[in-house]
Amino acid sequence: MSGMVAGKVVVVTGAGGGIGRGVALAMAQSGAKVVVNDIGVSLNGEGGAKGPAEAVVQEIIDAGGQAVASTDSVASYESANAVIRTAVDAFGRIDAVVNNAGNLRDRVFHKMSEEEWRQVLDVHLNGSFYMSRAAASFFREQESGSLVHMTSTSGLIGNFGQANYSAAKLGIVALSKSIALDMARYNVRSNCIAPFAWSRMTSSIPAETDAEKARVEKLKKMEANKVAPLAVYLVSDQASAVTAQIFAVRANEIMLMSQPRPLRTVHYGEGWTPELIGEIAIPAMRKHFYALERSPDVIDWDPI
Ligand SMILES: NC(=O)c1ccc[n+]([C@@H]2O[C@H](COP(=O)([O-])OP(=O)(O)OC[C@H]3O[C@@H](n4cnc5c(N)ncnc54)[C@H](O)[C@@H]3O)[C@@H](O)[C@H]2O)c1
Repeated sequence: MSGMVAGKVVVVTGAGGGIGRGVALAMAQSGAKVVVNDIGVSLNGEGGAKGPAEAVVQEIIDAGGQAVASTDSVASYESANAVIRTAVDAFGRIDAVVNNAGNLRDRVFHKMSEEEWRQVLDVHLNGSFYMSRAAASFFREQESGSLVHMTSTSGLIGNFGQANYSAAKLGIVALSKSIALDMARYNVRSNCIAPFAWSRMTSSIPAETDAEKARVEKLKKMEANKVAPLAVYLVSDQASAVTAQIFAVRANEIMLMSQPRPLRTVHYGEGWTPELIGEIAIPAMRKHFYALERSPDVIDWDPI
């Protein structure tokens, strides 16, 4: 098959539905051999079925592409290694991983349990580490590889009731940057995408107040498959100079996100005391403080 990622072997995690399904289909359409990974559980972690991953594999095969299913979880080191082994056993190599699998356990922070915290960290942050680390041994050996990680503006900017998810998603940004730094010598690239899409995950957003209802109506217009073209590009050799970046995608809009850098600096030759910090340092910096904003307060323009 010809295409931008022709011949590449790509693992897409959480590809049984939503954004991951769109990425898996687009990878196959652009010539990749795809491992469609999904454990097939509900958003709250119940159930578990072979169904979703195999259904997407069938769609790819029906369209003339190549794909195999994997139902191993990303959330343990052993099973993440098994996902990568599936790629190598089926197609002989591994060229890219799209760390897309995700879950939610939303709860206001002062009521969040340790289990809710851990379950989300396990899938998003630990899962992205396990998958990337399992692929890294092959990438190092072959001196090439591309990682794409789904982050979120819930972490980059902020959101209510998602301390677990936000912390995991911002952790993924640092993980991606660290991999990009450590593995540049082996031509391995690592980038993040913060998607906005109507999916099973966003359908769990409460829509009770007028503002919430309006937000959900906007989200419904953001198709999950609109995230896929950027993921395909980032895996392709045409992106050989693109690494350590954070993009966001909403419908037909692609954003390059900022990364933290010092905004202002204050220096006091005699050394600071707590009192002097209150008198001089904070007033000098205050007008540059960030407001207590959420993602929709910052990204407040219409995407369409
Ligand atoms: N939809 C959005 O607007 C949005 C916004 C920001 C970030 N994201 C991120 O994009 C990614 C995809 O989200 P989506 O909206 O398509 O959600 P989704 O719930 O439709 O898809 C997530 C998939 O991951 C699978 N999964 C869960 N745990 C797994 C595990 N341990 N191993 C393997 N697969 C597992 C689920 O079965 C599901 O099919 C997630 O990482 C999510 O955090 C989505």
